[in-house]
Amino acid sequence: MTDLNELKVEVLLDIINSSARKAIQEYKKSGHGVPGADSTTFHPLDLATDTLALRKAIRLLEGACHQLSAVLAPPQHTVYNFVHDYTWACTDIAIRARIADVLDQHPEGLNVDALADAVNLDKTKTLRVLRVLALKGCFKEVEQEVFANTRLSLILKSTSNVGCMVRVHKDIPKYGANLYDTMTDQEYARSHEVDKSPRLFSLRKEGINSGYWEMDGETRDIFQRGLVGHTEIFGSSAVLHHYPWDTVSSMVDIGSGIGGISIPLANMFPHLRITNQDLPGIVEQAQIAWDKDAPGAMRDGRVEFVPFNFFEESPVVGKDVYYLRNILHDWPDAESTTILRNIRKVMGPNSRVLIRDCVLFHTVEEPGVGTTEFSKAPEPMLLNFGAGNHTAYQQDMTMWLIFNSKERTLNELKIIGQVHSISEYLAMVDLLRFTIHRANAGLVITRVYDLVGTMVMEFRIAQD
Ligand SMILES: C[S@@+](CC[C@H](N)C(=O)[O-])C[C@H]1O[C@@H](n2cnc3c(N)ncnc32)[C@H](O)[C@@H]1O
Repeated sequence: MTDLNELKVEVLLDIINSSARKAIQEYKKSGHGVPGADSTTFHPLDLATDTLALRKAIRLLEGACHQLSAVLAPPQHTVYNFVHDYTWACTDIAIRARIADVLDQHPEGLNVDALADAVNLDKTKTLRVLRVLALKGCFKEVEQEVFANTRLSLILKSTSNVGCMVRVHKDIPKYGANLYDTMTDQEYARSHEVDKSPRLFSLRKEGINSGYWEMDGETRDIFQRGLVGHTEIFGSSAVLHHYPWDTVSSMVDIGSGIGGISIPLANMFPHLRITNQDLPGIVEQAQIAWDKDAPGAMRDGRVEFVPFNFFEESPVVGKDVYYLRNILHDWPDAESTTILRNIRKVMGPNSRVLIRDCVLFHTVEEPGVGTTEFSKAPEPMLLNFGAGNHTAYQQDMTMWLIFNSKERTLNELKIIGQVHSISEYLAMVDLLRFTIHRANAGLVITRVYDLVGTMVMEFRIAQD
C-alpha cells in the first residue's frame, strides 16, 4: 500500500517535471532552444521584457524542488545549509575585483595565477572563491585551475545593472548580524520608525548616523543603476505587456529614480505623456538617463521632470496613472499613508494609482483575499509557493534591515489604500483581526496583476 507521504512526494516530482517542461517550452518558443549549462552568452530570453510564463514555471519548479529536498534530506543537513552559505561573500569579491570583466577578455579561460595577478588578489584565495561560485554554475573550471565566464557570471561584469544591485547588498549582511540585538534592544525592539532601522543601529555603533537617501555621487549612481537592474531581476517589465496602457494617456512616476520603468514605457508607448517626480538631485540624474535612453521622448516633449518631496507635496494634478514602484515598501505604514493621501488629493475621477511591490501571502487561505487575485500553488506545495517565492520574502527582510519597513500582504495594501489617516489605519488593522471591512473613503483596489514575486495593484477612488 502506498502511504500518503509517498504520494505527496510523487506529486512534487510530477510538478517538477511539468514545470521544467513548461520552462523548456518557453525557451523553445523564442526560437533559440534551451540554454546550456556551459553557455557563455546570454540567451535572448534572458533579455526579453515579457518572461512572465517562464517565471511562473520557475516559481513552481524552485518551490517544488526545495520542498522535495527538505522532505527527503536529513533535517540537520537542511538547517545547517541555512547558515552555512557564503555565496554572498564570494559574489561580492568577484564583483568588486571585476573578475568577470577580466575573464571576458579570455573566452577560452584564464589560469588562476594570471587571473589573480590581473585583479591583484592572492592566488589560492581567488581559487577558493571561484570554486564556491563554480559549484553553482557561476564561472566554470574549463581545465584544472583555468576559469572562464558563464551565462551566470556575465551578470557580475561592471557594465551590468543587475551587478549594481548586487553591489547595493554589500553591507546588508552586517545589519543582519545585528538583527537579534535590535529585537531585544529597549529603544529599537518595538519601534516601527525609519529612525530605528537595523541599518542605523549598526552604523550608530560605528559612530555614523546618515539617512539612506543622503547618498554620495558614486553610491547614488550605483544605486540608481541597480534599480534598472532590479527591473530585470524581478521581471518588472512584464507590466509593459500585461497592463492596458492603451487606455492611459498620462502617467506620473512617483519616486521615479532615473526611469527604470518609465523609460521603457515611453519607448514602447509613444502616445504616453510621462512626468518623473523624485527628489531634486535624482530628477537631474534622471534627465541624463532619459537623454541617453529615450531621446525620442525628450525631443518630442513627451516627458517632464518635476522635483518634489512626496511627504510634503502632492504630485502634478489630474493624471491618468500614478505609478509607485518600489516606493511604499521603503516606508512604514504612517509614511506610506501620507504618500497616498498626497496623491489622492490630486486624482481626477478616472485616475488610478498603481502600486508595484512584492506581496506576501500566508500559507493558509486568508479571509477577504479573493482566490482570483493571485495564483496559488497546487497541493502538496505550500500555498504561497514556498521557496519558489524566495525573492519576495528575502526582499521583505531587506526592507526591514535597511529601512525598518516591509513588504506587505494584499490585505495590508488594501487597508493602506483605503484609509485617510494613520489613526484610521490602526483602527482598521484592529478590526481586521476579526473580519475584513471596506472603508467608506479613500482608494479601493480594483485589479491585481500577479507578475510573480511582485504584483501591480490598481487602486481607484472609492465611489461611495
Ligand atoms: C527604491 S527607489 C525606487 C525608484 C523607482 N521607482 C524604481 O523602481 O526604479 C525609491 C525612490 O524614492 C525616492 N525618494 C525617497 N524619498 C523621497 C521623497 N521624500 N520624495 C520623493 N522621492 C523620494 C528616492 O530618491 C528613490 O529614487
